[in-house]
Amino acid sequence: MQGFWFGKSVVVPGGAGFIGSSVVDELVVNGASVSVIDDESSGDLSRLASHQGRIAIHRSDLCAIDLAALFRGADAVLNLAGMAPGLTPDELRHERLYHGNLQIADAVLAAALAAEVPRLLVVSSSCVYPDDAPVPTPELSIDGSAPESANRGYGLAKREIERRATAAAGGPTRITVARPFNACGPRDQAYGPGAHVIPSLLGKILDPAVPEVVVWGSGRQTRSFIDVRDAARAMLLLVERHPVPEPVNIGSDDEIPLGDLVRLLMELSGVFKPVRFDLTKPEGALRKSCDSSWLHELTGFRPEYEAKRSLRDIVTARLANRECSCPVRVG
Ligand SMILES: NC(=O)c1ccc[n+]([C@@H]2O[C@H](COP(=O)([O-])OP(=O)(O)OC[C@H]3O[C@@H](n4cnc5c(N)ncnc54)[C@H](O)[C@@H]3O)[C@@H](O)[C@H]2O)c1
Repeated sequence: MQGFWFGKSVVVPGGAGFIGSSVVDELVVNGASVSVIDDESSGDLSRLASHQGRIAIHRSDLCAIDLAALFRGADAVLNLAGMAPGLTPDELRHERLYHGNLQIADAVLAAALAAEVPRLLVVSSSCVYPDDAPVPTPELSIDGSAPESANRGYGLAKREIERRATAAAGGPTRITVARPFNACGPRDQAYGPGAHVIPSLLGKILDPAVPEVVVWGSGRQTRSFIDVRDAARAMLLLVERHPVPEPVNIGSDDEIPLGDLVRLLMELSGVFKPVRFDLTKPEGALRKSCDSSWLHELTGFRPEYEAKRSLRDIVTARLANRECSCPVRVG
């Protein structure tokens, strides 16, 4: 059966990124005609190698080109370009991530409106929620609170991006706003300042030069992860069925303590080492988990990949050396 995306012309800024490349996979499977714009600042076009010759690729900084010209005639723009926080806790990141993310989102929003693209996906983040948000976190009002303190510049940028999307609604461009929680999957960023928690822990487990795995904090802090393939599918469903700028969570409520996550990664990889919990280092929020009931109500979405299957795929890809090793330019 031909679905909503079949035959549609879709532009994906940030399509070489971790989530963007899974969105491209999903669009191609659904019969869309896809163009990617990516400068590889934190992405890697090799993630799209399996689509070579079947999608158009513009290797450019989207802030430095005539985006509206590229968007003209497209049925949808799904903006996955952005600057993700990663694990490096340098203090200057707040300023950098605030301005960088606003600049990227503004350029895409302005061009999509100018080109009157019928559908636009704006990607926010769970970092818009305050530290004391209930867990699992539903789409609660964030007015009058501060965003997650550990990622305040990034969270403030995402809040501002949501506001601008709301202000821009009502014209010919119908806007969807997604608030993803932590995504995980086989092509996640494994190295550099943009590395995420699972590939980074796995790297420490597999590196023969690392004698013990050090986990920041007690290891009792919980996180929940949605497989990136599920996150991509949820985004397409939301654009199709909820083209209004009321932000919708995308994530999982399957919480796992970081200590248990390390042990599970060791079991799956067959490499066992001592684990040390460094209580002198910050452990971030005690719990993070997503209430995605509204996403389910709006779209019928249910995840296909349960946590253990995702982790097994991540370990298998890493052992086969298929993870993304792209260097991350910070600036
Ligand atoms: N990964 C997660 O768990 C997560 C969670 C919440 C929100 N998000 C959001 O989802 C989006 C995608 O995240 P991701 O994890 O895939 O990040 P990513 O860094 O892997 O992907 C971002 C992509 O955007 C590209 N890019 C950045 N600036 C660009 C520019 N000026 N011109 C062209 N391309 C540019 C990068 O090269 C990269 O390919 C971001 O907006 C991020 O804030 C991600």
